[in-house]
Amino acid sequence: MSTPGSYSNDRAAWLKGPGHRCSEAPAGAKRVWRLVLLGPPGVGKGTQAQLLCDELGACHLSTGDVFRAARSMEMDKASPAMVTAIECMVGGKLVPDLTVVNLVKERAKCLRCVGGFLLDGFPRTAAQAGSLEEILQSQGVTLNAALYFELPLEQLRTRLSGRRTCGRCKAVYHVASRASAVAGVCDTCGGDLVQREDDREEAIEKRMVAYNLTMEPLLTFYAERKLLMRISAAGSPDQVFTRVKVALGLPIHE
Ligand code: AP5
Repeated sequence: MSTPGSYSNDRAAWLKGPGHRCSEAPAGAKRVWRLVLLGPPGVGKGTQAQLLCDELGACHLSTGDVFRAARSMEMDKASPAMVTAIECMVGGKLVPDLTVVNLVKERAKCLRCVGGFLLDGFPRTAAQAGSLEEILQSQGVTLNAALYFELPLEQLRTRLSGRRTCGRCKAVYHVASRASAVAGVCDTCGGDLVQREDDREEAIEKRMVAYNLTMEPLLTFYAERKLLMRISAAGSPDQVFTRVKVALGLPIHE
């Protein structure tokens, strides 16, 4: 367990709530990266976040994962705001801005993580982006870039319908393009692979609508601050990752 005030790189603290502290040693990365990953549902933000974590030592912080972790709690232990958030998520609607921003504020120390961070799924609206800017200022840190992943709608549906996620370590697989060695079992931790509730067809449609309503102002927000980098998400995860590394000026390993 690290001492109070020193925050190392352990995503469990983000997932388990403000009372939890990081437990691992600092990643020791040469440069600290603070990135926001943007893009439609299923474009591959979580997949690229996993690859970036391995490369940069930064901590993967996903608001969607926090809501899904809360979903597995007993509902009578969840706050009224969290109950609303879970209902929105399962139905494919966006969680209200205030609820999401309060959650991130509660865990603002994770944004000072010594290894840096990859924010996946937050911000999702221009209002959330404004709040994030304020929170980062209050923590004395700044963003390096906002990576925006783009892909045609039909390919998004294919990625979402075949997605499987480890119930234990949250690693992301796909039944066709990124299958685990043993069907239904996580390669990393041996946990069970499950299909997300919001990957049902009706919920996917609602998520796409919510995304289309909010993304343009968000992109404008980051374009105005000269942080926006547009990246095609077509091709294999490794091909997309090579584009990410080129955009960030990272070395390409052959
Ligand atoms: P969240 O968990 O953030 O979901 P999302 O943004 O809809 O994104 P996904 O996790 O579905 O997709 P992804 O882009 O990470 O793709 P992945 O890498 O898994 O949010 C869930 C819900 O929580 C929201 O709907 C909302 O209700 C709520 N919420 C969360 N944050 C919120 C906020 N800030 N404000 C309001 N509400 C909020 O990849 C998908 C699949 O494709 C996988 O199977 C993967 O293996 C495969 N794949 C990935 N890349 C490739 C590739 N290059 N080629 C082939 N297959 C690939």
